[in-house]
Amino acid sequence: MACILEMEEIAPAFKSYVIHEPVIARRHRAGQFVIVYLHEHSERIPLTIADSNPVRGTIRLVVQEVGKTTMEMGTLRPGDSIEVVGPLGKPTHVENFGTCVCIGGGAGIAPLLPIALALDDAGNHVVSILGGRTQELVILRREMEEVSDEIYYTTDDGSFGAKGLVTHALDAYIEDKGRPDLVIAIGPAVMMRAVSEQTRPLGIKTLVSLNTIMVDGTGMCGGCRVPVGGESKFVCVDGPEFDGHEVDFEMLMKRQRIYLEQEEVARRRFLESHQCRATATGGS
Ligand SMILES: Cc1cc2nc3c(=O)[nH]c(=O)nc-3n(C[C@H](O)[C@H](O)[C@H](O)COP(=O)(O)OP(=O)(O)OC[C@H]3O[C@@H](n4cnc5c(N)ncnc54)[C@H](O)[C@@H]3O)c2cc1C
Ligand code: FES
Repeated sequence: MACILEMEEIAPAFKSYVIHEPVIARRHRAGQFVIVYLHEHSERIPLTIADSNPVRGTIRLVVQEVGKTTMEMGTLRPGDSIEVVGPLGKPTHVENFGTCVCIGGGAGIAPLLPIALALDDAGNHVVSILGGRTQELVILRREMEEVSDEIYYTTDDGSFGAKGLVTHALDAYIEDKGRPDLVIAIGPAVMMRAVSEQTRPLGIKTLVSLNTIMVDGTGMCGGCRVPVGGESKFVCVDGPEFDGHEVDFEMLMKRQRIYLEQEEVARRRFLESHQCRATATGGS
């Protein structure tokens, strides 16, 4: 079991955890993830390693509370323990490409951070475009500013940066500064699809990091299957990063919706039982 050393709420429904995991901290490379389970009967969920410190023996996870398991994780505090398996997935291929535009949307900024850091270390000119629905949802701004040579922000409501979508900022960047050598987009599937469609006619190499239903994380169950370039790929062992121009986003989005009803039931049950416990103990 791995001990949670620090927990911080960094935005509404976003928590950052520092976890003592020396072996994973030593082996971790940008782009990899871990499978976390909270207790014996818990579902296993994949989470990207947002940062690691091999000297301290720690990894950092940034988690958005969207459903039952991530909400349950939100109740954990420093001193609590969880099971963490990894690092899993192929590391990002990093070299000096030239100018790399790193595009992050909402929770996608967490997996983007270690990649931007590695690209910066490899001597690339790192341009970051970060977007969210509102200012509060554009997370990890300080960390991304530290690793970026240029940074642009967009929000849907205009509460921070330019009003609009990350694709508008990418358009403006290309018009102003020309074609980058690489684009990496991580965020909701609709965002990654839009970025990939934007860069396709310009022939800009574009990587996306896929979020699919994962069960075992070892390539055995087939839960994370997604069509890429006409072939069936497993996100957990072949990914999580793929060429955005080859991903079948329609199929990906269909697969992401498979268990929507069951997930909603589990989320409601968790909230009800949690509220019951809080009321019984006199909590709010
Ligand atoms: C390789 C990989 C890396 C990941 N890294 C991270 C990470 O670093 N931080 C993080 O917060 N999450 C990350 N995720 C997503 C995370 O695994 C899910 O958020 C988690 O499994 C949700 O579990 P749950 O039981 O709380 O919610 P569920 O009950 O499974 O989901 C509830 C509903 O929320 C929506 N939903 C779920 N996940 C997402 C999502 N990522 N974006 C938008 N909507 C979603 C869906 O509509 C879903 O039906 C990653 C996923 C993969 C496959
Ligand atoms: S999660 Fe089971 S094959 Fe990838």
